[in-house]
Amino acid sequence: MNTGNKNLAINGGKKVSEAPVLIHKPYLDEADFKIADKTLRSTFISGDGPECREFEKKLSEYLGVKHVLFMNSATTALEIAFRVKNFPHGAEVICPDFTYTSTAVAAAYNNLKIVLADVYPDNGSLDVSKLESYITKKTVAIAAVDYGGIPAEMDRIMAIAKKHDLYVVHDTAQSIGSVYKGKKTGCQGHVSTFSFHGTKNLTTGEGGALVTDDDAIAERVKILREKGTDKYSFLTDNKDRGYYEYVDIGNSYVQSNINGALGITQLEKLDWMNSERKKIAEYYKKELSGIKDLDFMRITEGSDHNWHLFGILVPAEHRYWIMDALRAEGVMSNVHYTPLHRNKYYKDLATDENMPGSMKFFNRLLRLPIYPSLTETERRLVVEAVKKIFN
Ligand SMILES: Cc1ncc(COP(=O)(O)O)c(C=O)c1O
Repeated sequence: MNTGNKNLAINGGKKVSEAPVLIHKPYLDEADFKIADKTLRSTFISGDGPECREFEKKLSEYLGVKHVLFMNSATTALEIAFRVKNFPHGAEVICPDFTYTSTAVAAAYNNLKIVLADVYPDNGSLDVSKLESYITKKTVAIAAVDYGGIPAEMDRIMAIAKKHDLYVVHDTAQSIGSVYKGKKTGCQGHVSTFSFHGTKNLTTGEGGALVTDDDAIAERVKILREKGTDKYSFLTDNKDRGYYEYVDIGNSYVQSNINGALGITQLEKLDWMNSERKKIAEYYKKELSGIKDLDFMRITEGSDHNWHLFGILVPAEHRYWIMDALRAEGVMSNVHYTPLHRNKYYKDLATDENMPGSMKFFNRLLRLPIYPSLTETERRLVVEAVKKIFN
């Protein structure tokens, strides 16, 4: 790699793009503006309103799961995913080292012990060949993550969980619309948690959902997310009660009706938005394959990717320089997730040496812009900038 090339913008050469090509942009259209406006004017703007219920129903049909419980973030959905089980303090949860803090913090928030697990060096997904080595007498759960939208190997993870009688929380924050072995992600774990944050393929601004086929879990979540009250059933089935009751502890994790409304219109175009992402990914792959020292993330066998992220794997020693060089050309790129054990809060849980897959993936990964509103010109500029730097 010729880092001294004078044609590169980082070395004083001409930029590929004067206007920066952004790395993320939510896709919002007239239907979203209209439904938000209509919902605001309806004055039903507080939590768990009719639009939230409709979004939940439509999303459950889309995913093929029984219960979808809309919440204010995936972080709170993850926290509740552990809370519903009332695991004893100090029980252990196996969590990938390469994930966002929310996956692990949810266990910590429930006084559970986080046990970090290594991931594959070519896609950041839980390394299933190592999974059983982390199981002890105290293990109660596994958290699996679909990094970048690429499904984790859920059939193998569920088989291990069944053998050891473990609960599986599937962090599908990034994988809405991805398919694993013929079924949408969200159908495989005991519970799954989606994110609708502004960077995600389907966005409600901020937001998340816990999804499950388990009736008992769903009933408890309805109470926990609504301050420990039975308001949900009161609203749904208010035959002879004049009030709702405080039946448990809980917190306020319901979503505003405005966010629910956005979920409806976003869901209507989700498959189209994902297909636009796929077109970009296919274009990048066609144009960038064969470049020396540049690889792509491996997609799990038997799965269909929603292309939440497009990652390239580059030489570790040049990764930050490549990121800076791309930015200098006007193309925003980014590194992602510093492995949990490299962060202050998790630093005593593992070392670089016992997380070799996680470190290798982290050290090689760079993300390129991918979103439905990325124009044809911008897509070309991304390719041009990468080729310029690698040649
Ligand atoms: C894997 C993963 N889990 C959880 C979250 C948290 O999502 P939210 O921002 O909706 O709380 C994120 C956020 O990006 C994520 O990437």
